[in-house]
Amino acid sequence: MTKTPAASQNTRRIAPRFLLGAVILAGLLVLMQLARFVVPGLKLDNPPVKQTVTWDSTETARLWETTCGDCHSNETVYPWYSYVAPAGWLVAHDVHEGRDHLNVSKDSRVDVGEMIEVVREGEMPPQVYTIMHPDAKLSDAEKQALVDGLRATFGTGSDG
Ligand code: HEC
Repeated sequence: MTKTPAASQNTRRIAPRFLLGAVILAGLLVLMQLARFVVPGLKLDNPPVKQTVTWDSTETARLWETTCGDCHSNETVYPWYSYVAPAGWLVAHDVHEGRDHLNVSKDSRVDVGEMIEVVREGEMPPQVYTIMHPDAKLSDAEKQALVDGLRATFGTGSDG
């Protein structure tokens, strides 16, 4: 079908508007990528490590690193998508909030009873994390190993 003159005129009128829209959208996307350099809460940072944990075993250390360390230490390994807004905003938010509650790179005291409880109840690691990090999904045996390891590393705590 050949275009009628009216139709091609329409296309000509729509094209600039579409282009303007695309340019604005691209500009917004670029601004979104820059936000993490400006807004403190969106930073993908790793503040100085003030202390390191002496784990009771390499297995506990491994379990901690794969399931908890990204959000509860200053040794976060940021995956590639954390550098892409807005996905990265969610990562930054979780990491900062997680560190506020528990940060083994900084806190001189940790509540081991609480750590054990959240592992036992499957509250931690959060589901959003295990979807993106399937390794972090703990089997019952791994949960028990982590619980035992946390207790051996940090003391008995309130959970006995
Ligand atoms: C994706 C990031 C993330 C991972 C991974 C993660 N946490 Fe958390 N954690 C958080 C956030 C965010 C909070 C605070 C909000 C909440 O309680 O849900 C938190 C809170 C906690 C708290 C405090 C609970 C409270 O009620 O104050 C403990 C203890 C904890 N996490 C332990 C762990 C342990 C142990 C692991 C590994 C098995 C782990 N977390 C893995 C993000 C994470």
